[in-house]
Amino acid sequence: MAGMLVKDIREERQGEAYAPFANDPNSYSKKFYIESYGCQMNFSDSEIVASILNAEGFGATKNYEEANLVFLNTCSIREKAEQTVRHRLQAFRKVKEQRPGMLIGVLGCMAERLKAKFLEEEKLVDIVVGPDAYRSLPGLIEEAEGGQKSVNVLLSREETYADISPVRLDSNGVTAFVSIMRGCNNMCTFCVVPFTRGRERSRDAVSILAECQQLVDQGFKEVTLLGQNVDSYHFQEADSQPITFAKLLEMVAGISPMLRVRFSTSHPKDITDDVLEAMARHHNICKYIHLPVQSGNTRVLQLMNRTYTREWYLNKVKRIREYMPNCGLSTDVISGFCTESEADHQDTLSLMDLCRFDMAYMFSYSDRPGTLAARRYEDDVPEETKKRRLEEIIKLQNKHSLESYRADIGKEFEVLIEATSKRSDAHWSGRNSQNKVVVFPKENRTLKKGDYVHVRILDATSATLLGEMI
Ligand code: SAH
Ligand code: SF4
Ligand code: F3S
Repeated sequence: MAGMLVKDIREERQGEAYAPFANDPNSYSKKFYIESYGCQMNFSDSEIVASILNAEGFGATKNYEEANLVFLNTCSIREKAEQTVRHRLQAFRKVKEQRPGMLIGVLGCMAERLKAKFLEEEKLVDIVVGPDAYRSLPGLIEEAEGGQKSVNVLLSREETYADISPVRLDSNGVTAFVSIMRGCNNMCTFCVVPFTRGRERSRDAVSILAECQQLVDQGFKEVTLLGQNVDSYHFQEADSQPITFAKLLEMVAGISPMLRVRFSTSHPKDITDDVLEAMARHHNICKYIHLPVQSGNTRVLQLMNRTYTREWYLNKVKRIREYMPNCGLSTDVISGFCTESEADHQDTLSLMDLCRFDMAYMFSYSDRPGTLAARRYEDDVPEETKKRRLEEIIKLQNKHSLESYRADIGKEFEVLIEATSKRSDAHWSGRNSQNKVVVFPKENRTLKKGDYVHVRILDATSATLLGEMI
C-alpha cells in the first residue's frame, strides 16, 4: 500500500461494482464519478464517499461526461502527484464548458493542503473537501448546486467513519481494504501526511470486526487492515482492556480460518514482538510485511526523524526472520534527501544487499511545502544526482526481486484465486501468503475466484511466479 501511488485503474470497471442499494445503477436520478490517486487510504476513503453519495441519491458512473458530480480524490505526497491532478482537471474543463451544471470537487490530501486556495488557483473547482470532512458532503453539494463555492477542510481528532459502510468500488469480491486508523503522529521531516491527514486516531474495534464479518458473510476471503501506521493502533473503551494492533490482528484472524488477513503500513519502530508472534501463530495472517526503511544511513535517518538507526532496522529484519523465516518483506526508499552524500547513498545500497527485499517502492526526494524538511533543510542534492541514485537503487532492487522470485522455483504455495490473469483468459491470477503474484493455467477444473489452491512454481520473473496446480 503505502507508497502505492498508482493511478486509479478501477475507472474502467466502476460500473460493475457499484449500486449497493439498488441493482440497477440507472435507478439513481443523479450520477457521480470518482477517481482516486495516492495510497490505499485514499481508495478506501473513496468507498466511504461513495456510500455517502448513494444515500444522497447519486449513483456511480464510469463516464465522467455524463456525471452531475465529478470528484478527484487527490494525493500530495510528491509534487508529481499534484501535477497529475492538475492535468486531470484540465480534461474536465472541456466537459464543464459544455455542461455548466456539472460540479467538480477536489477531495483528499491536496484539498487539505491547499484549502480555499484551490478555488482561486483552479476556477473550475466548485467543492473542496479534506479527508476528515466527508460527512459534510451533502450540505456542500447543496451549496454548490445553489451556485456557491463550498469548502470544508476541518481536520478532526475523532473522525474514523466507523459507522459508514463502505461501498466496494472495484470489488473482485475476494479481497477488500478495511480502514482501522487515520492520521499520523510521526512527523517524518520529508512527509506531508501529518499535515493533510491530521492526528492519529484508532477506529472502534467492534466496528472493525463487524465490517470484516460482513465481508466474510458476503464471500470475501481476504482483508487488508489499513492505516498510515497500523502498528500503533490502540483502542480503549472505558473499564475494558486496551486493544493493541497485535490483539486486533488476532481478533480479525479469529473470524474465520478461511479469511486471510494482511495489513499496511508498518513503521519499523512500532512493529513489536507481539505482532510478530501473532503473525507466526496464525496460518491465516499473511507472512508479509511492508517495512519502509527510507535510507540506509543513520545520519540521514535522523534528519528524516525516522527514530531508528541503520543497525536497529537491520536487527528488526533479523527478528522478523527469526519469527518467520518465510516472511515476505518489502520497503520504501527515498533517494537524494537533503544533505545525502555519495557515501550515504552507498549505505542505502548496502542495506538493501543485507535485507534482500522482495519488492520496493522507490522515489527521489520531492520537497513538500510546509514539511519540517522544507522549513529546516536545504533541498541540496541536484535533480540529476537524485535521479541517478534512484536508478541505481531501482537496478539493485530489480536484481534482488528477480533473485527472490527465482528462488521460489520448485516450491509449493497456497494461493488465493483473485481473478483471471490480465494477460491470458486461460490463466488464473492470485497471491501467495508472501504477497507474490502467482499465475497458473486454469485447466478444466471447476475452480472460481475466492478458491484456495496449491500451486507448484515452475518459472519466475521479477514480479510474477508462474506455476501449475497440484
Ligand atoms: N505511512 C507510511 C508512508 C506513507 S507515504 C510509512 O510511514 O511507512 C509512502 C512513501 O512515500 C513513504 O514511505 C516514502 O518513501 C515516500 N515519500 C513520502 N514523502 C516523500 C517525499 N517528500 N519525497 C519522496 N518520497 C516521499
Ligand atoms: Fe509520513 Fe512518516 Fe507518518 Fe509515514 S510515518 S505517514 S512517512 S510522517
Ligand atoms: Fe495517501 Fe497521498 Fe495523502 S499517500 S495520505 S493520499 S498525501
